[in-house]
Amino acid sequence: MNISNFYNMLITNLAGAERIFEIMDIVPDIVNVQDAYALPPIVGEVIFDDVTFAYEDGEEVLKNVSFHVNAGETIALVGHTGAGKSTIVNLLSRFYNTTWGRVLIDGHDISNVTVESLRSQMGIMTQDTFMFSGTVKDNIRYGKLDATDEEVVQAAYAVNAHDFIMQLEKGYDTDVNERGSRLSVGQRQLIALARALLADPMILILDEATSSIDTQTEKLVQEGLNTLFAGRTSFVIAHRLSTIRNADRIFVVAEGEIKEVGNHHQLLSNKGLYYKLYVAQYKFLHEGA
Ligand SMILES: Nc1ncnc2c1ncn2[C@@H]1O[C@H](COP(=O)(O)OP(=O)(O)OP(=O)(O)O)[C@@H](O)[C@H]1O
Ligand SMILES: [Mg+2]
Repeated sequence: MNISNFYNMLITNLAGAERIFEIMDIVPDIVNVQDAYALPPIVGEVIFDDVTFAYEDGEEVLKNVSFHVNAGETIALVGHTGAGKSTIVNLLSRFYNTTWGRVLIDGHDISNVTVESLRSQMGIMTQDTFMFSGTVKDNIRYGKLDATDEEVVQAAYAVNAHDFIMQLEKGYDTDVNERGSRLSVGQRQLIALARALLADPMILILDEATSSIDTQTEKLVQEGLNTLFAGRTSFVIAHRLSTIRNADRIFVVAEGEIKEVGNHHQLLSNKGLYYKLYVAQYKFLHEGA
């Protein structure tokens, strides 16, 4: 009986192993060009130079997009669903190569530098903040593996995460996946901010979460974000009015183009696309602070 059971297990597992090997065999889309060099430490200037892009076999989703972002600026990307906001940041982190045109960081065409040297210097935070199994401390330290406990606490403190962490049953040693210590969406975001601050990237990309969080936490997150954005070039796909208002410039993306650029007040008084978006959506959004 044991032998026949073993045979069954073997067959089932072989199927699984086959799938694992298939995944291991996938060649990444983005590979280093010959003579690729390491991108020097990033200062933070970003240029899109006449960028056109189509996903494989698709039509053009970005058309001749050009812009110049200075080091340290915070840019909010707004626009309807499918406008091309995520595509812009995907090209900046080189998850795809442009179809036409160039993306430059500090004057370096990013298609000429090694993918590793590029991505290791960028902080990318997605909508669903990822928590690893392990403690709160481990999760923050993931931003910089050799960080001391003191650095972890400093980062948490700077982004307003320290207080709620101290209120958890075991503080920084609380297991994030343990029953009874489930973290709220807002708390996860605060931990992700601490993680990003610890990693200290000079370019930050944030796809802001859409899910609503309570007013109190929202305020903490907003302040945490301001700390994080200071001194870094930041691109935020913004869903919250407080983020949009705080941005140095807002890019209004529509039909694969950047149709309007300006700050909240300038764009409102233009009475153009942004104004329409604002009246239709943002006006009703939670202000946060
Ligand atoms: N991986 C993909 N393959 C093919 N087409 C894609 C892919 N990702 C996005 N698209 C298409 O590209 C266009 C722009 O999409 P993008 O994700 O940049 O929009 P978005 O502005 O981020 O929208 P949202 O607010 O919904 O996130 C859309 O028409 C979308 O269908
Ligand atoms: Mg998107």
